[in-house]
Amino acid sequence: MSASQHQPSEARTIGILGAGRVGAAVARQALKAGYDVRIATAKPADDLVLLAEIVTPGAVAVEAAEAARADIVVVAVPLHKYRTLQPELLAGRTVIDAMNYWAPIDGEIGDFENDPRSSSEIVQAYLSGSDIVKTLNHIGYHDLEEDDRAAGTADRRALAMAGGSDDAKARVAGFIERLGYDAIDAGPLEAGRAFQPGTEIFNGSHSAEQMRSILAAEREPSLA
Ligand SMILES: NC(=O)c1ccc[n+]([C@@H]2O[C@H](COP(=O)([O-])OP(=O)(O)OC[C@H]3O[C@@H](n4cnc5c(N)ncnc54)[C@H](OP(=O)(O)O)[C@@H]3O)[C@@H](O)[C@H]2O)c1
Repeated sequence: MSASQHQPSEARTIGILGAGRVGAAVARQALKAGYDVRIATAKPADDLVLLAEIVTPGAVAVEAAEAARADIVVVAVPLHKYRTLQPELLAGRTVIDAMNYWAPIDGEIGDFENDPRSSSEIVQAYLSGSDIVKTLNHIGYHDLEEDDRAAGTADRRALAMAGGSDDAKARVAGFIERLGYDAIDAGPLEAGRAFQPGTEIFNGSHSAEQMRSILAAEREPSLA
């Protein structure tokens, strides 16, 4: 097969690490899009079963190890807990980093405060065997379930993605599109700096055209 014919397999199962505000919203939206959803916290699956039945009906409460075997794994845990994730479980997986470092809200975290890299690059270094794609961090958890639109709708919102693996980004793009959003590739993981807290993208809602233009201006400030 030539490189141009190569197509990453489409995701069918979504594993979610974190059953809080973001994890639950992503789970519901993924169920609505027809995915098989497995959700986990750091606690035993039995502790989550009842909550999952109420908050994310249709999602299966599992151990983190099982959620990590899904085609795409969404990490939606508070960033200060990122070192409680188990790198060996996530090795070889396509992993969405939906976490943010937002010191005014969450407090200062030394690993992020004293490192010039973007938060997702630090997470990628920790989860060194995974293909991290930064996305879903710049849409409010409540908006995720309200702003979805069918493909081609005039007011469809765009979400940016950044990551080092084109295959992982293609798989994640398919997921984002099915959730009801245009997926825009911002480039390598460091480009995710353009949609961290405090940025124009983080603070707003943008069409695909607007998103491309903001990202282009970030890459080439002289174009702005
Ligand atoms: N607020 C927003 O609209 C928004 C939007 C996009 C992204 N974000 C980002 O999303 C992340 C999550 O935010 P949130 O508000 O959803 O947090 P939250 O409501 O506090 O939920 C965090 C969840 O993570 C679980 N957890 C902790 N450590 C874990 C581990 N090692 N493995 C699996 N699950 C684990 C917790 O369960 P246990 O402690 O019981 O294990 C809990 O279910 C943050 O980084 C935030 O900045 C927020």
